[in-house]
Amino acid sequence: MEQKSFFRVIFLIVTAGFIISFTSTYFSHTPSSTTVVLDCTDTSSSPLCASRNFLFNKQQPRTIPKTDPKPKTKTHDHVSDTPNHPLDPLTLSEINKVQSILSSHALFTSGTRHALHTVVLEEPDKNLVRSWQKGNPLLPRKASVIARVGLDTHVLTVDLSSGLVKSVNSPVPVSGYPMMTIEEMNDVTSVPFSNADFNRTIISRGVNLTDVVCFPIACGWYGKKEDNIRVIKSQCFVTQGTANFYMRPIEGLTILIDLDTRQVIEISDKGRSIPIPGSTNTEYRFENLVTTTTDKTRPLNPISIEQPRGPSFVIEDNHLVKWANWEFHLKPDPRAGLVLSQVRVHDPDTLETRDVMYKGFVSELFVPYMDPSDAWYFKTYMDAGEYGFGLQAMPLVPLNDCPRNAAYMDGVFAAADGTPFVRENMVCIFESYAGDIAWRHSESPITDLPIREARPKVTLVVRMAASVGNYDYIIDYEFQTDGLIKAKVGLSGILMVKGTTYENKNQVNKDKEGKEEELYGTLLSENVIGVIHDHYVTFYLDLDVDGPDNSFVKVNLKRQDTEPGESPRKSYLKAVRNVAKTEKDGQIKISLYDPSEFHVINSGKTTRVGNPTGYKVVPRATAASLLDHDDPPQKRGAFTNNQIWVTPYNKSEQWAGGLFTYQSHGDDTLAVWSDRDRDIENKDIVVWYTLGFHHIPCQEDFPIMPTVSSSFDLKPTNFFEHNPILRAAPNFEHDLPVCEAQSVSS
Ligand SMILES: *[C@@H]1O[C@H](CO)[C@@H](O)[C@H](O)[C@H]1NC(C)=O
Ligand SMILES: *[C@@H]1O[C@H](CO)[C@@H](O)[C@H](O)[C@H]1NC(C)=O
Ligand SMILES: *[C@@H]1O[C@H](CO)[C@@H](O)[C@H](O)[C@H]1NC(C)=O
Repeated sequence: MEQKSFFRVIFLIVTAGFIISFTSTYFSHTPSSTTVVLDCTDTSSSPLCASRNFLFNKQQPRTIPKTDPKPKTKTHDHVSDTPNHPLDPLTLSEINKVQSILSSHALFTSGTRHALHTVVLEEPDKNLVRSWQKGNPLLPRKASVIARVGLDTHVLTVDLSSGLVKSVNSPVPVSGYPMMTIEEMNDVTSVPFSNADFNRTIISRGVNLTDVVCFPIACGWYGKKEDNIRVIKSQCFVTQGTANFYMRPIEGLTILIDLDTRQVIEISDKGRSIPIPGSTNTEYRFENLVTTTTDKTRPLNPISIEQPRGPSFVIEDNHLVKWANWEFHLKPDPRAGLVLSQVRVHDPDTLETRDVMYKGFVSELFVPYMDPSDAWYFKTYMDAGEYGFGLQAMPLVPLNDCPRNAAYMDGVFAAADGTPFVRENMVCIFESYAGDIAWRHSESPITDLPIREARPKVTLVVRMAASVGNYDYIIDYEFQTDGLIKAKVGLSGILMVKGTTYENKNQVNKDKEGKEEELYGTLLSENVIGVIHDHYVTFYLDLDVDGPDNSFVKVNLKRQDTEPGESPRKSYLKAVRNVAKTEKDGQIKISLYDPSEFHVINSGKTTRVGNPTGYKVVPRATAASLLDHDDPPQKRGAFTNNQIWVTPYNKSEQWAGGLFTYQSHGDDTLAVWSDRDRDIENKDIVVWYTLGFHHIPCQEDFPIMPTVSSSFDLKPTNFFEHNPILRAAPNFEHDLPVCEAQSVSS
């Protein structure tokens, strides 16, 4: 197999002739006065610019060029892919093999309706993976399969070499169902139209049936109605006059559907008095939006990062990324989106490559809406366990989702009948330079030392974006050369909105005391309310700092009052270290007035001066769920009751909302596991971090939301002997190509 053909590398294609001319320019140490100036208006003559954008010497509004060549993507059918590493995802031919093995298995030959909800690699045991080295025979390849057969859920292990199928867990001992298949989500969209009452209510609202789309909404678990039956709710929108149908809800109409039989169970039709919001101003597609000539906004000139010598990272054997001092295994996953494994960093002093994290991924999301009324109370999404965060990740848009210097990775997943399919360009990997500073120091004239030292901060970003229906989540893992990993979540896309009779705030009913009627959100446009909601993204972080056995230390800043007469100061802050003994010590609620650092240390390994080596979890702007712990959605989402949890490593405990999240009762969550209060000191531990957002929508979120982001860091803390990027080189003029528009250089 051609090793790199898996990736679509979209950086410039440098011609051989150009390489010769450029390298000769580069290595001749051209004095800065004769800067290489390239004419970028004609890309054929100056591939260094690699710009197929149109450059203007004056600012001009950007229009769609008549012929805008698509950025080059290498196409590859994945047919000849073979696994190279024990953690490589199932290949296309392996998924075919699973399909063929299962097709002759008794469970699937009885004629009972069945579907495969998960077909992924069953990862070999951690100790086997850890001791595996390149060149060793590959560990036995197995597939982990979750199937629905009739009304039962089965967990199977398929051995790819022997063809043996082992039933692991049938029937499943906990509440809940597997995540939906794409086929189910598609099928459900047409189910309402099979019901005459549904058709009648649509027509009676003056809407043509051909202008209606209905959307599958996981409905959580509230008791009786959802017991012993796998259900989904559907709500509908009007597409007439807009592609942004989310802004035209048919309010109050909810269809309860049996997800196994695809039958309508019940229709709740309560919003007849509420008008369907209009299509005006809902457009967001570039080609349909006209800029008014009176708009005084100065248009932006094109901007792009170019790497004339190509990217500095390599992707070996399709999944092993190596960049600067980092190396890690990367794979797309239908549930988690993407999974980082065996993350290691090179130590410039010891020359060792040291373990940092065995595995990291988005374990679950929880998105409760704050409206208890009939058509809204159940909207409490868990986007990984219900919808598949990876299944919802769409192809990234070259030049706009990811810069020109990005490489892409496809997801290879299985459909409900076991047939493999390829989700192209699902992940991108690129080096980023945002003009930031990695470190600096200047001396002021008083010291008489003419020191001006500064280093540019270049990072490596691994990105995916999931569009779970209306909402878009951007997940970035950003690697810094100083050893820090930033996990960043961006929220964009389109709000879930609610129809209302109100067109203006001044119409909203007030009671005798002048208190406004509860709207559960903000009036965003005529007849449109953006309902308040939260987003929680829970990360699984199996940190292995210098090996698996680690401890979690809460380094608490405490105020110490001085003794009378001890000092002119009355108080100071001191760091108090508390090593977590059991899981309950690792249940952390973040508080500004009880500040702590959260270290994961290896007490068996110390630095030269005796500090245990460690990494810390650094929370940034975040939010905590304030819902009642006994509220049914919060029970299911109990993994958000703390911002940090620490559990002992257990291969079966990876999905914070439970393996079977769909309609779960909350009996298999991270909160339940952690309450076992197992020992976690000097053990292989997993840290769970939840990044939260409260979202009170505002008018700027209409008709599509500008991205809102937050992040947290994993930062080396006494891990290196000193600043690991001390010897990093600054940028020199001759390193960087100067790319100018022709009219500027002439
Ligand atoms: C409802 O309307 C759709 C679209 O016109 C049609 O295909 C379907 O047969 C109708 N359903 C019933 C039960 O009449
Ligand atoms: C419904 O469709 C008919 C025929 O295409 C059209 O004349 C009518 O205006 C439509 N009604 C609405 C409310 O869009
Ligand atoms: C591992 O996790 C499973 C699922 O939560 C649990 O049943 C089992 O007891 C756990 N094992 C240990 C040693 O904690």
